[in-house]
Amino acid sequence: MKKILLIEALANSGPYVLDAARQLGAHVFVATHEDVYESYPAALRDKIHGTVFTDLTDPERALADLAAFAETTGIDAVAGCWEFFTPLVAHLARRLGLPGNDPRCAQASRNKAEMAQAFSAGRVPAPRTVGVRTAAQAAQALDRAGIGFPVVVKPAEQGGSWGVSVVAGPAELGTAVRHAQSWPVAGPHGLRMDPRVVIQEYVHGPEFSLDTVVWRDTCFHLPVVEKHTTGGAYRAETGHTCPAVLPPADLRGLRAATEQALRALGIRNGVAHTELKIPPEGGPVVIEVGARLPGDHLVDVVRRASGIDEARAYLQAVLDEKPDVATSREGACAIRFLTPPRAGTFHGVTVLGRHTALVHQHITTAPGETVGSAHDNSARVGHLLLTAPTPAQVNADAAHVLAHTRIEVS
Ligand SMILES: Nc1ncnc2c1ncn2[C@@H]1O[C@H](COP(=O)(O)OP(=O)(O)OP(=O)(O)O)[C@@H](O)[C@H]1O
Ligand SMILES: [Mg+2]
Repeated sequence: MKKILLIEALANSGPYVLDAARQLGAHVFVATHEDVYESYPAALRDKIHGTVFTDLTDPERALADLAAFAETTGIDAVAGCWEFFTPLVAHLARRLGLPGNDPRCAQASRNKAEMAQAFSAGRVPAPRTVGVRTAAQAAQALDRAGIGFPVVVKPAEQGGSWGVSVVAGPAELGTAVRHAQSWPVAGPHGLRMDPRVVIQEYVHGPEFSLDTVVWRDTCFHLPVVEKHTTGGAYRAETGHTCPAVLPPADLRGLRAATEQALRALGIRNGVAHTELKIPPEGGPVVIEVGARLPGDHLVDVVRRASGIDEARAYLQAVLDEKPDVATSREGACAIRFLTPPRAGTFHGVTVLGRHTALVHQHITTAPGETVGSAHDNSARVGHLLLTAPTPAQVNADAAHVLAHTRIEVS
């Protein structure tokens, strides 16, 4: 029986990793903090073989504690779910002599300021980026770099589009930088975030994500996913469709840009979630990479569309087995997030009529809770999952079902 040490399971992909481990006949030990473990849902705890408690906000201590645990327990592989702990995953794997990513550049997979530097050094097609510490530095930094408006302002460390805004001109720059600095600490561990803010040129065009399992430096790409976001100043994701319909040259371009990005970040053995845009005037541009499985239930979306279980393929890679990414289904799947039409008190969601494409609906907000407007992914009240034989059909079905969905807020 193989033993896997998973650093923090409380993430969107956590349950998928635990299910995949069971399928592979492996035991999973989860590293977390005792207080965070208290907040694990019972369904998540039930999937875990054992736990090891440490302080994940103190990388030196966590590394020492987890290395000692791994040696006494006989751990065969180290895995992660949470973006902020991917550097710890890389360092621990190296310390134990197990397959993993290059720890020397692992920080650049978590921090967008360092990622921009790694991309520039690796000649990865990516938006030109400057890093600033204060709103006062922003205009000058852009000027020096020759970056014109519109620009995208985002925290060096965050996720879920928190603090990300598109800025049309210099007048809004200060507010956007301060907005990006609004979350100095990330829950649930209380991890201190880099206060720097990155500002980058705005890339036009449709957006995609491409997940890649990497085993012994070889990339195994999963189907490309089309990403749907809100327009305007705040770019929250509204949904995803798998697979994206793309001409072969675009698919090749997305894969090539992704492989360049993964090389620049030292991603050699594990999994990566890469977000890219294809501007009308040129080849694909990498927006960001996470050295982790995707969030947004994309593991489920990809599996329903293609039959590929990327959580299992990821665990195979860290167990040093060839990842199985063979397509066993030729269909399409869409996820659509439900966001309230305005801020207020949430009452519920009603889907009118019967829809054969609608295979799952999940409401995550309780009636009576206060909901905000859709500035970032925290405004979601739930999601719908749809399947159909083709991407065009599933997109049409999703639009139809959403048109018949009422999200009640007063
Ligand atoms: N340079 C850019 N040009 C155009 N759009 C961008 C750019 N950077 C970010 N965006 C838009 O903002 C969204 C969120 O940005 P980004 O992915 O960098 O932040 P994040 O907080 O890590 O988001 P998430 O966790 O939701 O993927 C992107 O998915 C994209 O739609
Ligand atoms: Mg992103």
